[in-house]
Amino acid sequence: MAGKQTPIPEQVVNKIVAESGISKVGSASIREIKKLINDIETASGIPFIRMEMGIPGLPACQIGVNAQIEALKSGVAAIYPDIEGAPVLKKEMSRFVKNFLDLEVSSDGCIPTVGSMMGGMAGFMTFVRARKERDTTLFIDPGFPVQKQQHRVLGLKYETFDVYNFRGDKLRNKLISYLEKGNIHSIIYSNPNNPSWICFTEKELQIIGELSTQYDVCVFEDLAYFGMDFRRDISKPGVPPFQPTVSKYTDNYALLISSSKSFSYAGERMGLLVLSDKMYNREFPDLIPYFNTPKLGRAIIYGTVYAISSGTSHSAQYGLAAILKACNDGVYNFLDDVKIYAEKANIMKRLFLENGFQIVYDKDEDQPLADGFYFTVSYPGLSGEELLKEFLYYGISAISLAITGSERTEGLRACVSLIKMEQMPVLEERLKCFKENH
Ligand SMILES: Cc1ncc(COP(=O)(O)O)c(C=O)c1O
Repeated sequence: MAGKQTPIPEQVVNKIVAESGISKVGSASIREIKKLINDIETASGIPFIRMEMGIPGLPACQIGVNAQIEALKSGVAAIYPDIEGAPVLKKEMSRFVKNFLDLEVSSDGCIPTVGSMMGGMAGFMTFVRARKERDTTLFIDPGFPVQKQQHRVLGLKYETFDVYNFRGDKLRNKLISYLEKGNIHSIIYSNPNNPSWICFTEKELQIIGELSTQYDVCVFEDLAYFGMDFRRDISKPGVPPFQPTVSKYTDNYALLISSSKSFSYAGERMGLLVLSDKMYNREFPDLIPYFNTPKLGRAIIYGTVYAISSGTSHSAQYGLAAILKACNDGVYNFLDDVKIYAEKANIMKRLFLENGFQIVYDKDEDQPLADGFYFTVSYPGLSGEELLKEFLYYGISAISLAITGSERTEGLRACVSLIKMEQMPVLEERLKCFKENH
């Protein structure tokens, strides 16, 4: 690229990268990239097309904000919340999973956590103690890097594979090759998937569900992007279609339901861990030395959640309860508010494709991928690392798929949330310039 005209002057980018201390931009974490882009923006005075952070770009759901303010006024800030969660939130979540997943779950198993991040962490910390011989989590990747970070800081073991080459029927034997060893306690994946936005088909969910029963492992289904596969409208309570889920095919499940993206409530750090009735009541004698109880649901709530955070923000629980109630009663269509992500993705993917880029994860078996919160791109002849570095000169930021457990090292993840419709012409101009220079 040396000597070519680029939207951000070459010497500015080179100077800031050298000063950042980041040895390889391609393997930098999301937060490191964020800081680097901030510095380049400040030095150049030119705003980036910022696609690196997966944060909501919309105002918080007002129903939640209002209810939370009322809860604060009524004095809940002074009072410790019950560790198992506010009854009204537990009840509305139980209704929500019935209405939008077509699933019967007792409110006992609906456990508020500090973001769904903590739901996963509490789950892994407990499951790893449930059976001595099972000490490993299996990630169906690509995945959300922080969940592996949780494993590393806790010293927990995990195994992983990139599902790219194992879609459809091929998933079965691949999963069996891990499960038959007998060391796996849980499987985790997100659906829709961060970073690739693949969504498992019913066949794939059935394979995962059946094998988890057969090999007796728990499936953590991370529904951080609940309902956001916009190819089907699951927004009507109690009416099909429902959010696709592994829980149709097994009772060995724990759902991670987040308020962050579907309700733009990320700042309040509210999520729920939803355990199937079977899992909630299941007894594992190996839990006793750690939790004084063999019962999994009790161990998670009064052992792990108590130890980590002693429950979650009291007022935020009332905020989320009000949002869920409005969804359940059919007076608030949460997906109307977030559909804009799909509209943006549709335009952005077109702009990338028109300028010589490719979509890396492009199909769910034979179906084109949905437009949503993320998409993945590559450019012929460049590795993901080279592309990420090269993008800096064009005022475009993303993250490398290499940090997500993906083997598609040519690819980058792009997040649409922070891009404004008014910025689309700027993106187009920069991509055209990129194409001309390559
Ligand atoms: C797959 C996945 N899981 C979990 C989370 C975090 O959710 P929360 O904000 O509820 O902790 C995210 C956020 O980006 C995510 O992408």
